[in-house]
Amino acid sequence: MSKFINFIHAAQSWARNLPLPVAIRQYFVLCFEYIYNMFHYFDPSRPSTKTRIERYIQQGRQETQRLTDAGHRRPVAIITGANTGIGYETAKSIALAGYYVVMACLKEEKPELSRDQLIRETGLTDSFEVIHINLVSLRSIDAFVNEFKKRGLPINLIIANAGVMMLPKYIQTEDGLESQFQINYLGHFYLITSLLDIIKQSDNPRPRILILSSIVIHFADKFDYDLILDKNKYSYNHCYFTSKMASVMFSKVLARRLEGTGITVNSLHPGVAATGLYRHLPNQIFWKYFNRYTNINAYEASATSVLLALSPDVKDKTGLYWAHETIQDPNPVLLDSKAQEQLWLFSEKLITDIKSKWN
Ligand SMILES: NC(=O)c1ccc[n+]([C@@H]2O[C@H](COP(=O)([O-])OP(=O)(O)OC[C@H]3O[C@@H](n4cnc5c(N)ncnc54)[C@H](OP(=O)(O)O)[C@@H]3O)[C@@H](O)[C@H]2O)c1
Repeated sequence: MSKFINFIHAAQSWARNLPLPVAIRQYFVLCFEYIYNMFHYFDPSRPSTKTRIERYIQQGRQETQRLTDAGHRRPVAIITGANTGIGYETAKSIALAGYYVVMACLKEEKPELSRDQLIRETGLTDSFEVIHINLVSLRSIDAFVNEFKKRGLPINLIIANAGVMMLPKYIQTEDGLESQFQINYLGHFYLITSLLDIIKQSDNPRPRILILSSIVIHFADKFDYDLILDKNKYSYNHCYFTSKMASVMFSKVLARRLEGTGITVNSLHPGVAATGLYRHLPNQIFWKYFNRYTNINAYEASATSVLLALSPDVKDKTGLYWAHETIQDPNPVLLDSKAQEQLWLFSEKLITDIKSKWN
């Protein structure tokens, strides 16, 4: 266990509980994240990130080889937003471990270019396929699910990775919801619950479900439904925080519902990384240079996803929140099981209401 990471997590918990307004506390929490970013290279208790990721890939590859040698079919992963950033790097590692990777991606042309680049970088010609999905639309998610089902494939791993951050103004989705909430949370809720039958039937290896959340779950003192339902309360940052808090609560309920099945569900903060996620923030030039010097890169930020996806060391871990490849306590607000169940019911109702308007 790394003393440095223990220190970072303890410091972030301490900062979260300071008797100060949350708007100030959040900067303390972030400061410790930047300390992690800048100093984790010197942590003597862990090999480098590259060495760790390569170890997870090797562990995954050994398991895939063992299963295929025993006559099982090749495992299949679905990764949303796999065309760029953390999702791209994760997709590469998962394919190198022997998985067939379905890249669930937004645009028409860009994902195909990313798939070609993944093929070039890995030398794996039969490991990647793009199926389009737009998480702002339940109809598009249905279309993805139908297209995927046509292939008759299992799902041994699903990573809810796609996301957007801090859209400057309220953008209503075609389903009538706030975009960050739908893309980051509800779209993934609908996707995963729509695929649950296939997930439950899949084996060798038993499926793992990963849900990308964020450090921002520590930046609010309550889960505020008004931010989801009331356009006039739109806040570019608080709506992002809410979507990522919802993701953690979703992972907790799903883990509970799948208890005893051998299917694991975990949520994670990948790290504060220099990726396209910052594209909607003002002062792009500032962020470009700030991110370059203070943030980890997308490859480093894929480490927690790759660990949770592949390593046998975590195969029984479920219902947990992770950061820096280590279990972390989430914001206590998210641990209330009644509130978690309430969010699940609320999400189901939203979906039913949206679909009831379809003819
Ligand atoms: N980077 C960080 O500092 C950080 C910190 C904490 C958590 N995270 C989380 O990590 C995850 C990956 O983020 P990243 O940093 O890799 O960001 P990124 O480089 O911006 O990648 C985001 C991905 O999501 C896709 N996406 C956006 N809207 C979509 C939609 N409507 N339907 C389907 N896909 C959509 C994007 O597709 P296009 O490329 O086509 O737009 C892209 O592939 C996100 O969930 C993010 O919230 C990141």
